[in-house]
Amino acid sequence: MCGIVGYVGKRSACDILINGLRRLEYRGYDSAGVALLTHERLLVVKQTGKVALLEKRLAETVPAAVREQARIGIAHTRWATHGLPTEANAHPHVADGGQLALVHNGIIENYATLRRQLETRGCVFVSQTDTEVLAHLVSTFDTGDLLAAVSQALKRVEGTYGIAVVSTRHPGQIVVARKGSPLVVGIGDNETLIASDVSAIVAHTRQVIYLQDGDVALVTAEGPQIYTLDNMPVDRAVANVEWEIGAAEKGGYEHFMLKEIFEQPAALQNTIRGRLDLTLSTAILSGLSLSPRELAAIQRLVIVACGTSLHAGMVGKYLFEGLADLPTDPEQAAEFRYCNPIIGPDDLVIAISQSGETADTLAAVRESIQKGALVAGLCNVVGSTIAREAGRGVYLHAGPEIGVASTKAFTAQVTVLLMMALKLGRCRRLSRETGRTLCEEIVNIPAMIQKVLAQNEAIAAIAAKYAHVNNAFFIGRGILYPTALEGALKLKEISYIHAEGYQAAELKHGPIALLDENMPVIALLNDIPGKEKTLGNVQECRARRAPVIGIVTEGDTEAEQGVNDVIRLPRTSVYTAPVVTAVALQLFAYHVARLRGCEIDQPRNLAKSVTVE
Ligand code: M6R
Repeated sequence: MCGIVGYVGKRSACDILINGLRRLEYRGYDSAGVALLTHERLLVVKQTGKVALLEKRLAETVPAAVREQARIGIAHTRWATHGLPTEANAHPHVADGGQLALVHNGIIENYATLRRQLETRGCVFVSQTDTEVLAHLVSTFDTGDLLAAVSQALKRVEGTYGIAVVSTRHPGQIVVARKGSPLVVGIGDNETLIASDVSAIVAHTRQVIYLQDGDVALVTAEGPQIYTLDNMPVDRAVANVEWEIGAAEKGGYEHFMLKEIFEQPAALQNTIRGRLDLTLSTAILSGLSLSPRELAAIQRLVIVACGTSLHAGMVGKYLFEGLADLPTDPEQAAEFRYCNPIIGPDDLVIAISQSGETADTLAAVRESIQKGALVAGLCNVVGSTIAREAGRGVYLHAGPEIGVASTKAFTAQVTVLLMMALKLGRCRRLSRETGRTLCEEIVNIPAMIQKVLAQNEAIAAIAAKYAHVNNAFFIGRGILYPTALEGALKLKEISYIHAEGYQAAELKHGPIALLDENMPVIALLNDIPGKEKTLGNVQECRARRAPVIGIVTEGDTEAEQGVNDVIRLPRTSVYTAPVVTAVALQLFAYHVARLRGCEIDQPRNLAKSVTVE
C-alpha cells in the first residue's frame, strides 16, 4: 500500500517521478504528491485523487521551466491509513520550515507518543497522519548529516516503513530506509532511482538492489551507500530485472485486468516451463531445496495466505490430500499468527502471496520459522520479502500483475500447487502412470484456458443480463468450492455487487432464505464428481425462482437443461477444473463491472499490496 518513487541524476526529475507514480498507482490512489528540489528550494505539490489530477495540478501551478529544472525529487501515491484522503494528509510531508520533505509507506505505531513529544518541542502538525511525525523527527536530528538524522529518527520509531527524504540542506541526496515495506534502488548511468516496486523504474534501468529490513541508504546520482541504522556499511547484491517494460503496460487492452486475464495462456506456459519431468512423471521444483527423502518425511502441510491467494491455498488442500495423502490446513494468514499455531519440524508451511509483501502472510512466515517448521514461499514478485525470508519456494513466473483484482496469479498459484502435489505425491504413493497423466494435464492447461477465452463474447452477453443485480451467490462443491469463493470475491471487489460463495450443500442451511428472482446463483457444474449433487442444489434454487447461470462442461446437456444461462468450459480433470473455471468467472466479473462503469483496475478502498495488518 502506498507507492514511493524518487530520482536523482542529470535529467529532469518531474516527468520521471510522475511516470513512476502512474505505474505505482495500483498500490494506492487516494492522493498523490511530489517534492522537487530546485536551486536549493523545495517545491511540494499535492493533490487528492489520482496521479492524473496531480499532473494537471502541477501543470497549472508550476511553470514548465521550473518543473524542468529539478534534478532530484521524491513522490508518493497514498492508500489512506491514518486520516482521510485529504490534501493535508497527502505525502510528501514537510518539516524544518518547508526545507525537508518525506514520503512513507507503512505505519508508525508509536506516532501518537512521538507527536506529543514533538509538539512540546514546538513542532506544528498540519495533518492527521502518522507520517508527519517522521518528517519532524528527522528534522530535529539533522545537524548536518541527513543519513545520520534519518537513522537516529528511525531508532525511535515502532512500526513499519519504507521512506525517502530530501532536504534543501543536502542537495543531491535522497536518504531512504526500509523496515517491513519494500524499497528498491535502481542504478542508472549517472542517475539513481528508488521505488516501492521495480515497475516504476524498469523503463530507466534493469540493475536494481532490493533493500532489506534495517537498511538505510544515502542515494546520490552515483548510486547508493547502504548502512545499518548503527552506521555499519552493508553490501547488497545488484540484481537484473528479467521482464520487459511492456509486461507492465496495457498493450492495447482497455484495462490491466482484461490484459492479465487474456495473457493467462502465456503466463502459465512460463509457470510450467522446465518444471515437468516427463520421464520420471514428476515435477522439478528445485527452489524447494528438499530431497525426495525430505519431501517424503513431511507429515502435514499448512498453507498461509490472504484473499485470492488463500482461495488458491484452499484448492491446494484438495490437491495435496487427493494426490499426496498429506493432511493440509489452509489458514487465513492473520488468524494463523494470532492462534498460537501448532507446527513443528515435520510440517511444511506454504506461504502464498502474489506480491510477496502482504503483511499478515509475512508475519505468518516469521512465526512458522520461529516455531521450527519448514517454510516455502509461493510468490510472483521476484526478490520480494516473503520469497527471501522463506528461503525456499517456487516462483509463479506469471509476469507483473498490475490490476488490483488478482487473476493470472490465482491460476498460476493453483498450477504451482498442482505441480507441488504431483511432486509430493510421487515421493509417496502416486504411481508413475497417474503422474504421467497429471503431467499431460498440466501441459494442457494453457490450451484449456485459451478455449475459455474464446467464450469471451458469450460470457459478456450473459454478464449484460445480470449487470443490474445487487446480490449474487456462487456455489461449488469439493475442489470447486474455493473457486466459487474466488468468483464471488472477483465480482464484489470490482463491481461492488454483494456476492457470496458457498459450498453448494450449505445453501439450504440458511442462505437459501435470501433466494428470490433477484438473486442470481452462479453454479459451478463442471462434469466432475459431485456434479449430480450440485445439480440437485440448482433445482432447489430454481424452485425459489432464483435465476441460475451454470458453468458447465461443453456437451453436458443434462447440466445445461437444469439452468437458465450457460457458460461452457472445455472438459478437464477434477484437478485442473478450478483453473479453467476461474478464468470464466474472471471474465464474468470483468464484464459486469465494465457495464456498471466501475474503475476496474483500481476499485474503491483497495490496494494491490496490503502491507499493513
Ligand atoms: O499479494 P498477495 O497475494 O499476498 O495478496 C493477497 C490479497 O490481498 C489479494 O489476493 C486480494 O485479495 C486481491 N485484491 C484479490 O483480487
